[in-house]
Amino acid sequence: MDIRVRKLNGKTCIVTGGAGNLGHAAARLFLDHGARVLLVDRDADALARVASDLPPDRVATMRADVADAGQTRAYVDAALKRFGKIDVLFSNAGNFGVVAPIADYPDETFDSVMAVHVRGAYLATKHTVPHMNDGGAIVITSSVAGVRGDAGVYAYITAKHAQVGLMRCLAKELAPRRIRVNTIHPGPIDNGFQLAVEQGLGTALGVDGTAFFNDMIPLGRHGAAEEIARSVLYLASDDSSFTTGTTLMVDGGMSV
Ligand SMILES: NC(=O)c1ccc[n+]([C@@H]2O[C@H](COP(=O)([O-])OP(=O)(O)OC[C@H]3O[C@@H](n4cnc5c(N)ncnc54)[C@H](O)[C@@H]3O)[C@@H](O)[C@H]2O)c1
Repeated sequence: MDIRVRKLNGKTCIVTGGAGNLGHAAARLFLDHGARVLLVDRDADALARVASDLPPDRVATMRADVADAGQTRAYVDAALKRFGKIDVLFSNAGNFGVVAPIADYPDETFDSVMAVHVRGAYLATKHTVPHMNDGGAIVITSSVAGVRGDAGVYAYITAKHAQVGLMRCLAKELAPRRIRVNTIHPGPIDNGFQLAVEQGLGTALGVDGTAFFNDMIPLGRHGAAEEIARSVLYLASDDSSFTTGTTLMVDGGMSV
């Protein structure tokens, strides 16, 4: 890629869910823009696969469960040890849970989804912020599911809304240090995570899950990971220097 302006030159970025589709796409773009990146994920094999495609001198990986406080401290320490500072946190790890009527919703699934998205983003910011340079940026991956409700999607939609509350509190606390905090809200993306959602929802509702989503997207298609990565780069870089506390929809109009 021909990059004339390196928007994250010399910046250190932590990407959670870094072995997944959106995390990998964002990490690649961050690296194209001169960043150094620590990829964090609980899937060690996927981390190794993703890292093999990236420049080893500016990439580190760490296997960690983002819902675990000790493992969060460990990945923050790993970033500091390898790169000496932190400028950008992209808190992006996610799981989906199941689709079920409220009376049948499994408690352990609810807890696990809340743990990854809400506790995970809370712990990531809690342990990163003390080491983050003033003027840094935090981006949390919420979803179009963070601004609308759908029957049966109890854990995921509740978690994605909760991330917005966390982001708004952080934006106010960290503004004096010029650390900007925003959520990004992807619509359905053409990847494995979304396909699994569509299969689950399709079965629960007795419909074709992919058609169900396409009917709700004014632009009439799923997004690509690279389209989300470009918006994450915008929020992570000085291109968005006067933007904090906002919810950036990148959803083909689905939330309109
Ligand atoms: N794919 C979509 O259509 C879509 C739309 C809106 C929002 N999102 C959100 O985007 C984010 C990234 O999703 P994706 O599409 O790249 O899916 P993905 O499954 O490819 O990536 C998610 C990654 O998170 C990791 N992860 C899950 N739980 C973890 C934990 N406890 N600790 C550490 N890592 C963990 C997984 O191993 C995986 O690598 C998620 O937060 C998801 O909710 C996705």
